Amino acid sequence: MAYAIVTGASKGIGLAIAEELARRQYNLVLVARSEPLLLQESQRLAKTYGVDATYLAVDLAEANAAEQVYNWCIQQGFQIQMLVNNAGYGLSGPFERHSLNQHLDMLRVNNETLVKLCYLFLPLLRQQSKSYILNIGSSAAYQAVPGLSLYAASKAFVLQFSRGLRQELKRTPVSVTCVCPGATDTAFVTRAQIGEKGLKAAERVNMTATDVARLSVDATLARKAEVVTGTVNKLGKLMAWLLPKGLVEQAAGSIYD
Ligand SMILES: NC(=O)c1ccc[n+]([C@@H]2O[C@H](COP(=O)([O-])OP(=O)(O)OC[C@H]3O[C@@H](n4cnc5c(N)ncnc54)[C@H](OP(=O)(O)O)[C@@H]3O)[C@@H](O)[C@H]2O)c1
Repeated sequence: MAYAIVTGASKGIGLAIAEELARRQYNLVLVARSEPLLLQESQRLAKTYGVDATYLAVDLAEANAAEQVYNWCIQQGFQIQMLVNNAGYGLSGPFERHSLNQHLDMLRVNNETLVKLCYLFLPLLRQQSKSYILNIGSSAAYQAVPGLSLYAASKAFVLQFSRGLRQELKRTPVSVTCVCPGATDTAFVTRAQIGEKGLKAAERVNMTATDVARLSVDATLARKAEVVTGTVNKLGKLMAWLLPKGLVEQAAGSIYD
């Protein structure tokens, strides 16, 4: 039976993606750090949708996290049909507000572990008749964002890596999709320590995790390359392309302090 691995599936967009996949009868491997949440949600999804939902509690900032996930899936004998790299977070404010180790941990979760999971699982994905990688980027991938500089750069990496890999795999069963959400009502803003101005700006345009998840799964199964969720965020992407970079960066940076 086919399994989808979803990282960052204890809450927020990842949990909503897991639920959307369960609704479509995918068996699930949920990955995140919070074991009590993973236990509770895997049991709920299994009961509600009649699928097999299991979990692995692991800190994806650890150097060997991807290997832990891969080895565990191999031991369990799961046939992996979909890899969803959703786990990720930001650190807001001036670059020097956070320690170097905090920044590097974020890059490991947002980028290094994502790359390793793609690399390790690709041989298994190639064995399926149709298989999928869904990488979660961000609307922050389309311009530099002062006050979220490294996060925006990490998401630009996710977008470019996904698009390149997709082309490389175009004659294989594996389709790669990058979904770029804008502000979504989750715990993201708390973890990123986003201030009042940023919170107010997000509240005006927030989408729900359920809507983002539905669009993400639809796009993945339709084998699309890149999707920005929501009209406001699509407009933002267009503006970032049309307007002078300095102006766009000033506007984006005015939200974060
Ligand atoms: N919300 C937004 O406005 C927004 C906008 C654009 C893009 N995104 C992207 O969407 C994705 C999901 O974010 P979200 O909004 O759903 O945020 P969230 O509610 O904070 O969820 C983040 C998920 O990632 C997991 N995670 C974080 N650090 C981890 C680590 N070191 N090891 C393992 N798992 C870890 C968290 O689980 P544990 O805490 O249990 O580990 C949680 O399940 C992220 O990639 C984010 O960058 C979000």
